[in-house]
Amino acid sequence: MKEFRTDKAQDFIDQKVTLKGWVANFRSSGKISFLQLRDGYGYIQGIASENDLEKAVWDKIQGLSVESSVIVQGTISKHPKKEEYELQVSALEIVQLAAEYPIGKKEHGPDFLLDNRHLWLRSSKQVAIQKIRNTIINAIYEFLNKDGFIKIDSPILTPNACEGTTELFEIDYFKERKAYLSQSGQLYLEAAIMAHSKVFDFGPVFRAEKSKTRRHLTEFWMMDAEMAWVEHEDNLKVQEELISFIVAKVLEINQTELNILERDQEPLKKIKAPFVRMTHAEAVTKLQKLGSDIKEHDDLGGDDETLLTSDVEAPVFVIHWPAEIKAFYMKRNDQGLALCDDLIAPEGFGEIIGGSQREDDYDELLKRIKEHKLPVDQFQWYLDLRQYGSVPHSGFGIGLERLVGWLCGIKHVRETIPFPRMINRLNP
Ligand code: 4AD
Ligand code: MG
Repeated sequence: MKEFRTDKAQDFIDQKVTLKGWVANFRSSGKISFLQLRDGYGYIQGIASENDLEKAVWDKIQGLSVESSVIVQGTISKHPKKEEYELQVSALEIVQLAAEYPIGKKEHGPDFLLDNRHLWLRSSKQVAIQKIRNTIINAIYEFLNKDGFIKIDSPILTPNACEGTTELFEIDYFKERKAYLSQSGQLYLEAAIMAHSKVFDFGPVFRAEKSKTRRHLTEFWMMDAEMAWVEHEDNLKVQEELISFIVAKVLEINQTELNILERDQEPLKKIKAPFVRMTHAEAVTKLQKLGSDIKEHDDLGGDDETLLTSDVEAPVFVIHWPAEIKAFYMKRNDQGLALCDDLIAPEGFGEIIGGSQREDDYDELLKRIKEHKLPVDQFQWYLDLRQYGSVPHSGFGIGLERLVGWLCGIKHVRETIPFPRMINRLNP
């Protein structure tokens, strides 16, 4: 017998099935009980009527509690008009009768829900968010694999910083020396492109961010992509095509989840490459006109990012930044501006990608490393790449949680990762 799954209920009409799952909810009215059953693939309503059941089974159903694990037998029927299915219950076994479930129908505060994250993950909205996250991950792999990228796993324990030293998590490495948790695998991917041309990594990265904003986690997932022979403008093209591909995949695969999340899909349907490009200087002028107190050489704050995209529907590239507020490895143009981009998502979801063309000249890079007061000896291997067949190259990193937040319409990144880590949260 084929294994029954609620998401494949249409294949089982009028058949007798066994469902292994949990009781998401239940209610009884007189001689009929309605069980909302969840099997990890979806939901189905189970209907149990006293008249059709052995007394022992009926009594068990009356003693159920929310989130009890159960094995239910019954027959699948289809709603005469809607694409909905029901399970006419004929037998039920309680695998474990759940204790009183702490997450109820009433409103809970975020701290309570995060303290109970191990249980909250089962709630329908949280399930929908993780399913969309899964689609995004798969879409990224699909796009990159089709485009000739291979996955290179970069290390998490590293001897040096990638994105500046102020946000580094430090580790005592066998009491002999210090090591750091990776902020991005980028530098290692720059080595790998000389072997494979186009590569990516996808894994957890760490930032000892003191920021307590809705966009910051201390541990988050990043996909870094790196490409040999690709310069600034083509780097942007890959990014906008990848993002458009991901959005289309989510719209195709996750209708059920987007509806559970009540995500307005109209703005998402308009996301198609190419995206608007705006220099940092243009962005500053626009922001000042809109009332921001941002100055010529300032980074964009969270509010600036929201303001900047308030009149657009697709993400916006902010390019050509003042080099002094960007990372040491970025190549500069003739005006001394960094050949980089921040991709800012619309609807107030902020920066989802950071990318740049990389400095490929040995002497220039050495100068920058010194200017940034980074330890030259630790970067010698990275400098070496500019000595043995250096080529123009570029890449970018996507922050997965912010991307998930945008597509799900979830404002705080703490809900877009299974177990969030923030300054004030390491549990559960
Ligand atoms: O802009 P960032 O710092 O870029 C890099 O790390 C580059 N080395 C990537 C590369 O070129 N390969 O980080 C990339 C993205 C940001 O755009 C943002 O979406 C996300 O990572 N991000 C965070 N997400 C959650 N919490 C934080 N603390 C984040 N910091 C960055
Ligand atoms: Mg950035």
